[in-house]
Amino acid sequence: MPTLTLALSKGRIFDETLPLLAAAGLVPSADPETSRRLIIGTNSPGITLLIVRASDVPTYVQYGAADLGVAGKDVLLEHGGDGLYLPLDLEIGRCRMAVATRRGYDWAGTIQRGARIRVATKYVKTAREHFAAKGMHVDLIKLYGSMELAPLTGLADVIVDLVSTGNTLKANDLVVVEDIMPISARLIVNPAALKLKRDIVQPLLDSISQAVTARRGVLEAAQ
Ligand code: PRP
Repeated sequence: MPTLTLALSKGRIFDETLPLLAAAGLVPSADPETSRRLIIGTNSPGITLLIVRASDVPTYVQYGAADLGVAGKDVLLEHGGDGLYLPLDLEIGRCRMAVATRRGYDWAGTIQRGARIRVATKYVKTAREHFAAKGMHVDLIKLYGSMELAPLTGLADVIVDLVSTGNTLKANDLVVVEDIMPISARLIVNPAALKLKRDIVQPLLDSISQAVTARRGVLEAAQ
């Protein structure tokens, strides 16, 4: 019987993916928050979870080291999506990609003057495309985290980052000046795995898809 591997990152994606997997009858045999194991079995003998860094999920799936994965749209845009089949928006990990800067920064004036600005971000590709589409000249500075510090220390004029509750921006006296796009996590599949292991991949995709629809119904009813 062929085995199936699913790449997931710890934290919010893992926590929010669990109920969708449970609806498909899949329960992990360990909690990655407490276990140091990176390969975690499930109640289904043929299905294994790989715990990888969020930004590495598309790479594992692209090369077939994992058959499926769950990755944020933010990560997928930076990866480029080569060699990946994206069948499903899981509607979890919802947030938005936005441009933010110090409160009081004259963003409208900067745009009007056509001034060249410095943009600090982990999402270099997304930021480059966003500002290019606006015809703005930017110098991009790649950071790996704590981007909020960049406008506060003079490293950059603005940041491009994910905003969820807005608490991190608020705590650092930053404000959103432009929305770029809504973000959510996607199920990604290696195309060869889909072909060769369709007997187990397709039912799993169908179950997860049904779970997403059911979850949407519950959320809409609660509104
Ligand atoms: C993200 C993002 C912000 C924060 C936004 O960071 O980079 O810092 O969450 O969330 P909020 O609007 O609810 O405050 P994350 O915690 O994912 O860590 P990272 O800095 O390693 O990306």
